[in-house]
Amino acid sequence: MCGRADPEVALERHFEDLQQRPFLVGEEGVRLSLAGGQKKSALAVLDANGVPVLRLPQDGDVLAVPRHGAPSTVIVKPDNPILPGIVGNESYCLSLAQAIGIAAAQVTVLPAGTRNIIYVLRYDRRVSRTGALQRIHQEDFAQANGVPPGRKYERGTLAGPDLVTLLGTGRDLPPTDALSLLDQLIFNILVANTDAHAKNYSLLLPVGGGLRLAPLYDVSTVLAWPRVVQYFAQNIAGRKRKPGDVEARHWDAIAKAVNYRPADVRKRVQELVDALLANRVAVSQAIAALPGSSRGYVEETAGLVEENALRIAGRLRKAP
Ligand SMILES: Nc1ncnc2c1ncn2[C@@H]1O[C@H](COP(=O)(O)OP(=O)(O)O)[C@@H](O)[C@H]1O
Ligand SMILES: [Mg+2]
Repeated sequence: MCGRADPEVALERHFEDLQQRPFLVGEEGVRLSLAGGQKKSALAVLDANGVPVLRLPQDGDVLAVPRHGAPSTVIVKPDNPILPGIVGNESYCLSLAQAIGIAAAQVTVLPAGTRNIIYVLRYDRRVSRTGALQRIHQEDFAQANGVPPGRKYERGTLAGPDLVTLLGTGRDLPPTDALSLLDQLIFNILVANTDAHAKNYSLLLPVGGGLRLAPLYDVSTVLAWPRVVQYFAQNIAGRKRKPGDVEARHWDAIAKAVNYRPADVRKRVQELVDALLANRVAVSQAIAALPGSSRGYVEETAGLVEENALRIAGRLRKAP
């Protein structure tokens, strides 16, 4: 990226300027969440002619702070010393999802001065036939269920949506999107993204179009951060559980709660595990090769995710 004298330094300063927000402290410890886990910003990518483009930044593009109601096109999150390796971790998880056929937000990683930044292309934008950039309305699953943001976790003083409610939010989606929602949930368990709360699933409501499921976003494995909550955001088969402890009867309970055939859900879990193993090397190499990426963190993430998925696959065959 180029344009101004030193765009990398400008971006680094942009993050320094963002007000520091405190961590949310939940009953189980620290949560990474909208309210504070991650500092972030929404920017617009402009091409060399200054025209907004709906793509991850390429050479010659410039980043701009959108003004006067102009839509942003990317969400940018810098690395975070409290969650070491988050940039590689999140970009690996989202790219892995994409590689195994789960629609996921497109990501890349770029350096900005001394920092590394993850760029996430906004899925709630489209380019009209005339080339104008337009917003698509999105509602996260807390909003869709009329639940205030403070109730995004199932457990806590302010209790929020459980798994049945989350999966039930897909009831008005086209059948393929309802299945994609199940895939998102399975994937979040396989990679141990315990922070998969109600605001980390969303619906898209395009004007004049039908309701759709937003792609997967905000996924990282907490296995790299032992001090972050290791229990999944929702109870599984009635209890708080760590993703790696999920076994056959728990999947069966999830299936029954939403009227899927248990055998189909187990089969899907195994398929996703197989695909995840098959894509580990290619995805980790691709992410590690990005400028601004750190091979060590990406490989650590890939190893932890694979170990978790294998453990779950092993438990799939455990007798009830
Ligand atoms: N790629 C994206 N396109 C559009 N909206 C997004 C995208 N990624 C995240 N969001 C929205 O922004 C919110 C915050 O982003 P998220 O990645 O979840 O950050 P955090 O790590 O702080 O929770 C999400 O709840 C979602 O509504
Ligand atoms: Mg989030």
